Amino acid sequence: MDKQTKTRFFNTHPFSLFMNKTSTISGFYKLPLKKRIEIVKEFAHLTPEETDMLTSFHALSAVTADQMIENVVGCFQLPLGIATNFQINNKDYLIPMAIEETSVVAAASNAAKMARVKGGFKTTTSDPIMIGQIQVLNPDPAKIPDIGKHKKEILDHANTQDKILAKLGGGAQDITVRQITPNMIAIHLLVNVLDAMGANAVNTMVEAVAPLIETITGGRVLLRILSNFAEYRTAEATAIFDKDAIGGHQVVTDMIHAYTFAAHDPYRAATHNKGIMNGIDAVVIATGNDWRAIESGAHAYATQQGYTSLTQWNKNPQGDLVGHIKIPMPVGIIGGATVIHPMAQLSLKILGIKKATDLAGIIAAVGLAQNFAAMRALVTKGIQAGHMRLHAKNIAYMAGAVNKEIDEVASLMIKEKNIRMDRAKEIIKTLRGK
Ligand code: MEV
Repeated sequence: MDKQTKTRFFNTHPFSLFMNKTSTISGFYKLPLKKRIEIVKEFAHLTPEETDMLTSFHALSAVTADQMIENVVGCFQLPLGIATNFQINNKDYLIPMAIEETSVVAAASNAAKMARVKGGFKTTTSDPIMIGQIQVLNPDPAKIPDIGKHKKEILDHANTQDKILAKLGGGAQDITVRQITPNMIAIHLLVNVLDAMGANAVNTMVEAVAPLIETITGGRVLLRILSNFAEYRTAEATAIFDKDAIGGHQVVTDMIHAYTFAAHDPYRAATHNKGIMNGIDAVVIATGNDWRAIESGAHAYATQQGYTSLTQWNKNPQGDLVGHIKIPMPVGIIGGATVIHPMAQLSLKILGIKKATDLAGIIAAVGLAQNFAAMRALVTKGIQAGHMRLHAKNIAYMAGAVNKEIDEVASLMIKEKNIRMDRAKEIIKTLRGK
């Protein structure tokens, strides 16, 4: 094959998609489920066993589930969708999202498509530093300044608890002291947990150093536990949304009005941030991470100067919309459900993740995309238009529609502005009577 023919072949042949690893897959949502799985399989080089996990819809065995928590009696499943079009730091990603809510995956994909026009998302992450808290009651005030003098001893002792972490360049790295009440201080142990979420490593360390802290402070240690306010372990994402690609100058201006509302009003900020967490939680869950930790950290972070938006939006000199998010992102890729749950492993493989910080950046980008999509829908056609299509499909399905009937019934109900179970049943009857 000469060079020209080769180029043409790879650009037109369906498999060129996978060789170039583009996440732009036109009409992905319209493809039959089997075909969608086939595309993901090729994109992520899934083995036949991994592909079976997707096709079977039964990835978690009874034995594994029984190991994970207590008193297991079954499994609760969530749909796993794939968000397309994501380009992050010049690399294409298909993003697995586990979520029960309609429109979220489609909205993220659509936002990512618009972000591509100006180069997609750029992300950065901090070192994965977690905080372990040691609560000290009635410390001797004269001894509090001594804590700093014993820093090396405290850190060395903490690091004896996880020698591998220390050997790999992580481990306890610093301490800070905070006065909580006149009779209570909190000592923070700052631990670089590398690729782990880190709760176990940190909790082990703070429990281990507690007796030493009592000796140094003359007080009584009570709580020894990780803080979920992971302010030092953050991920940031930025994207420029081309004004023409997103609907023009008025859409940009109105989206900034929408953002300003969230920035100044906690009632709106709660909903605005919920939209962000729609995307974030879905990836966190798909990768087996602790979404309660991410939620509590995010909202603590959003509350530092009064509860506000987790994102910031403004207009650049060209009139494009520029979005930014900075958020605590304590996610891991080793340990816990990220390893035990086969779907989590599969999601990490689809993402092609090698480092926890890469996962953190991707999740921040999805949060920003989700926020963009929600604000754009809100300032244009409203949120219900998109929701209604899926709602209508759900009603059609529940009324007994199958295969192509689902779309036909949904379309007619939307046209008639009458999305109801009794109407769906009537339409099905008419269709079948044809
Ligand atoms: C719905 O799950 C999320 C939204 O309410 C977010 C928002 O209002 O920004 C649409």
